[in-house]
Amino acid sequence: MFQQLGVKTINGGGDMIKAILTGHSRGLGAALARALTRRGVHVLGASRTRDAELTAACGGLLTQVALDLGDTGSLLRWIDDPHTPAAPAAFLKDAQTALLINNAGILRPIGPVGGGGPGAAALATAVNVAAPLALTEAFVALTARGPAAADRRVLHISSGAGRSAYPGWSVYCATKAALDQHARAAALDEVHGLRIASLAPGVIDTGMQAEIRETPESRFPLRDRFVALKQDGGLAAPDEAGDRIVNYLLGAAFGDDPAPDLRRL
Ligand SMILES: NC(=O)c1ccc[n+]([C@@H]2O[C@H](COP(=O)([O-])OP(=O)(O)OC[C@H]3O[C@@H](n4cnc5c(N)ncnc54)[C@H](OP(=O)(O)O)[C@@H]3O)[C@@H](O)[C@H]2O)c1
Repeated sequence: MFQQLGVKTINGGGDMIKAILTGHSRGLGAALARALTRRGVHVLGASRTRDAELTAACGGLLTQVALDLGDTGSLLRWIDDPHTPAAPAAFLKDAQTALLINNAGILRPIGPVGGGGPGAAALATAVNVAAPLALTEAFVALTARGPAAADRRVLHISSGAGRSAYPGWSVYCATKAALDQHARAAALDEVHGLRIASLAPGVIDTGMQAEIRETPESRFPLRDRFVALKQDGGLAAPDEAGDRIVNYLLGAAFGDDPAPDLRRL
């Protein structure tokens, strides 16, 4: 199915597919931006930083917005902006298939519960949970009428940590579990044209993995397991993971399971 959609878009004669993508500036998000634009999808990326090389690599199909998703006030002002072309309402207006990929995420605070401090816990919750849920609310409302009403898809990038508990990651585990449960419950609403899934993407060779390996064992007792994964070539390359995720997102089976694992798709 995605090939049909992609081919039509690339040929310029058919469906206009548009995607809002958070955390597009590096890691898995940059790979997703490349994979989407290779298939002719127009992408509106929102991260704190912009990347000129990524714009060039995406062949004019990527628009980048500098936005701190940890600042909920700024996020809501962006969401509520009715006119700016690089804000959700104007961007999605002419989409025939509309996608929202909630990819941005942070791992900190890392360490035993009580050691990270309330500010870090609140920030992680804002970036990992409040932003995806607020964006989903806006996305579903904005696409309820118009050409994309019959095909709109929301993908949360979750983690195995949302499904298994890890010492030192209590906040991260909780935020990812929240995304999984959001997708499961939202799927039950059977909103017209909407498919939603929260995907555990596997272990990917990004800055987040480097951060894990740099954490002292006293704060993350399973650190050695992740060091070994890197040494043994057990991390997926971001572009490989990005390609597989986009194939899944644009495919016919997207949303059949609201909380899948990429390694088992
Ligand atoms: N890597 C893995 O093995 C792995 C495994 C399971 C799940 N995941 C999930 O996959 C997603 C992507 O992770 P990654 O490994 O690519 O991480 P990463 O390399 O650390 O990249 C994180 C992305 O999120 C953005 N971001 C972070 N804080 C932000 C903020 N306050 N506002 C806006 N954007 C923000 C960053 O952009 P800026 O810094 O420019 O803002 C960056 O583009 C995350 O949700 C992560 O939890 C990753």
